[in-house]
Amino acid sequence: MKKWYAVIGDPIAQSMSPAMHDEWFAANEMDASYIPIHVTAERLEEAVGSLRTLGCSGWNVTVPHKQAIIPFLDRLDASAELMNAVNTVRVEADGSLVGFNTDGRGFVRALEESCGKHPGEGKVLLVGAGGAARGIAFALHAAGYGPLSITNRTLEKARSIAVGLPNASSLTITEAESSLSNFKLIVQTTTVGMHFAQHGMPFNPNRLAEEAIVADIIYNPLETEFLENARANGAETMNGIGMFVHQGALAFETWTGTYPNTKKMIEKITTILG
Ligand code: ATR
Repeated sequence: MKKWYAVIGDPIAQSMSPAMHDEWFAANEMDASYIPIHVTAERLEEAVGSLRTLGCSGWNVTVPHKQAIIPFLDRLDASAELMNAVNTVRVEADGSLVGFNTDGRGFVRALEESCGKHPGEGKVLLVGAGGAARGIAFALHAAGYGPLSITNRTLEKARSIAVGLPNASSLTITEAESSLSNFKLIVQTTTVGMHFAQHGMPFNPNRLAEEAIVADIIYNPLETEFLENARANGAETMNGIGMFVHQGALAFETWTGTYPNTKKMIEKITTILG
């Protein structure tokens, strides 16, 4: 029987996930489809019950439900447990619902695909300390990167991520700016520079190490002011499309056991947004 998958969120109309997963199902000759469903916060529990009753095989969870969905699931895997947030749900054969989080690992896969390899030894600076930063911090640590420094406008939030990780520390934005040349990899995870959010940069990346790699998890616009400045200062840069595609690819693999073609998808989305 044809399987179906979904993404739930509010808003949801702008999501590129349905087109991405539908293309992967077709490319892998799988009889399945993927639909966007607008679910408001008040109706989340009801929506989860309906998805289960109507035979959905799995779904993605986006803003604002990544934490709120947890009480309605039967269990979490280690990544979702660690991040206390879920972006992927798989419905098991017995009907139970398992929550996963592929955001952080998606970032690491994108980085390694983009660099062609593990970027190797060197200090890593994470800018921002929200939900996205937390996932990326744990995934970078698990993949053997570090030592890790976390900087954030609100220092306390950077500290709260750093204390949970060996080999991690927090520093103020001013400290990060003045020690920028010590970092091999810099990852921008704040919302600064996002379309329709705030313009500008969380700080100026003008004292970079030679051969620094600078990543921004924002993909709309394709190049934030931060990334543009980093590139002008000689860094190899990576925007957020890779992370978006790989978090989706990991969800696809969680449901089907197959890792889909990410390179073609990154090119396609880059063209659409370009
Ligand atoms: P997400 O889940 O996408 O990471 P979030 O949890 O709302 O989103 O986190 C947003 C991040 O962007 C935080 O690090 C936030 O800094 P604060 O913790 O100080 O709020 C950062 N951020 C948002 N607006 C900012 C701004 N104008 N300047 C600097 N940092 C900003």
